[in-house]
Amino acid sequence: MLGRMPPFLLPSAPVSSLDDYLASGGGAGLARAQELGPAATIDELTRAGLRGRGGAGFPVGRKWATVAGQTGTRHYVVCNAAEGEPGTFKDRALLRANPYQLVEGVVIAGFAVGAAEAFIALKASFSREIDAVTRAVTEMQAAGICTDCAVTIVQGPEEYLFGEEKALLEVIEGGAPLPRLLPPYEHGLFATAPQEGWDATEPEPGRRGRAESNPTLVNNAETLSNVPHIMAKGADWFRSMGTAESPGTIVVTVVGDVVAPDVGEIELGTPLSAVIDAVGSGVRPGRRVKAVFSGVSNPVVTAEHLSSPLSYEGFRAIGSGLGAAGFIVYDDTACMVEVARQFSRFLYVESCGQCPPCKTGSGEITRHLDAIEAGVGSTADIESMRAWLEQVTDGNRCYLAVQEQAVIASILRSFPEEFVAHIEGHRCPLPRPVELPKLVDLGDGHATYDARQYRKRPDWTYEPA
Ligand SMILES: Cc1cc2nc3c(=O)[nH]c(=O)nc-3n(C[C@H](O)[C@H](O)[C@H](O)COP(=O)(O)O)c2cc1C
Ligand code: SF4
Repeated sequence: MLGRMPPFLLPSAPVSSLDDYLASGGGAGLARAQELGPAATIDELTRAGLRGRGGAGFPVGRKWATVAGQTGTRHYVVCNAAEGEPGTFKDRALLRANPYQLVEGVVIAGFAVGAAEAFIALKASFSREIDAVTRAVTEMQAAGICTDCAVTIVQGPEEYLFGEEKALLEVIEGGAPLPRLLPPYEHGLFATAPQEGWDATEPEPGRRGRAESNPTLVNNAETLSNVPHIMAKGADWFRSMGTAESPGTIVVTVVGDVVAPDVGEIELGTPLSAVIDAVGSGVRPGRRVKAVFSGVSNPVVTAEHLSSPLSYEGFRAIGSGLGAAGFIVYDDTACMVEVARQFSRFLYVESCGQCPPCKTGSGEITRHLDAIEAGVGSTADIESMRAWLEQVTDGNRCYLAVQEQAVIASILRSFPEEFVAHIEGHRCPLPRPVELPKLVDLGDGHATYDARQYRKRPDWTYEPA
């Protein structure tokens, strides 16, 4: 691991049985939580300063306290292992390396927020990880470790929005991945309360279940994998790693124009350039890093910021965000207009269209980028793109529209000369292919991207191969 401490989330050899897990100290976190009780468990996590690893970095203790404090007959826990962010493979790497720590984290969460039922949601295509987590749940149930909280594994669709927490709940309930209105802590799984907060009709007499909101805790798979370690070793141990605002380690993915794409656990606060070198083996000889993106969710990090610390505050200071710590690296041979076009097209295709400015705006922005990249664009395309970038987030239910705005506007801002060169030269000056790194597999220094994504249409059907 890059940092002062040995890795604890990603062991060098996979933990492949419950006996191995218990022999290496597994189970101690749940025992400690049960000793402390729910409120003190949440306090310990709050003191540890763990932040959500699914994208937003939200403080975990605060989220658990909010869900635990909501009234309602039933509470639920959901582990988000949908992992759809381009450039990210860390949740699958964690599930392959140690599914037991994740299940223990889920059970501790259930205990802390008062949930008798939990769901672990993964894409149906993640067959290796489904096998690993199913084995872990079965063994732990047989050993009496997760008997207080029933754990169900849910297999979801390929859509990017499946990972969005309000859409994830819809999928668990058997629907399509369309984000609903209210956040999971207000309108949770199987909730029967109206989402608008009021109802024009009187409840039917005797229908007591009508207004149940079922507050639900949704946490990312890496977030929950940290929990048993923190409970077993304490908040001070966790805070001995990383920085004051970003304690602990983080599991990063490094892909794109690097020698050997990979996943690695690093201490938070490590400089970004050192992470690219240590995890991805750096860029190829003679090349230099031009741009780094954390998924397709945050503004671009340009070359002058490569020495920035990889932490929530370090990335905020350079006007970007850590996201799910899946870093897509581009070297000086990559065309930034083509990168913008690929990212915008991905977000356009994946947008669900419930908020018209998001679907229409991302579609229009993609159309202008198509024209500029093809050498038939003009300054009118740039002007129209700028106008759409302002409106694309109007009335947005989820963060996807904000991603389109943040990532595309940042490329326009950081690489204006590349747009001018396309418009004035009527061609792309760097015409090499740029792939969208939606990862299907990653291992032995080789990344496999989802080739089907290029055939996906904006209505979520696929063009024939
Ligand atoms: C379009 C979109 C896709 C997302 N995909 C994922 C995902 O695949 N996995 C994930 O953990 N979070 C994803 N998120 C973030 C979740 O909505 C949610 O914030 C997260 O699961 C909360 O967990 P955390 O607090 O542990 O980070 C996505 C968000 C958006 C807007
Ligand atoms: S913001 Fe976009 S992706 Fe999110 S719910 Fe609205 S239309 Fe769908």
